[in-house]
Amino acid sequence: MTWVAVASAADIPVGQGAFVEADGLAFAVFNAGGGRFYATSHQCPHEDGPLAEGWLEGASVICPWHGFDFDLTTGGCKVDEGLTIAVYPARVVSGRVEVDLP
Ligand code: FES
Repeated sequence: MTWVAVASAADIPVGQGAFVEADGLAFAVFNAGGGRFYATSHQCPHEDGPLAEGWLEGASVICPWHGFDFDLTTGGCKVDEGLTIAVYPARVVSGRVEVDLP
């Protein structure tokens, strides 16, 4: 495991995401509230929409372009089961969001 700090937890409001880059990789990081953060790929697999600009509904992020949903834990999409996003373990340590890079 390679945990890398990618953002300040305080900089990402509850229910929203942020685009971050670390070690040459780009991610979307989401704050689901209660200290729960999720990290996913940043591009929507539908038409490359910016997932970090999406919003959370339950345990899913909704793409801002056409409203497709992606589960933050599995990467699965209920609108189109053929689409998935990458998901990465995320945690908060001393106020910093860390992502376990692949
Ligand atoms: S680009 Fe994300 S739903 Fe279309």
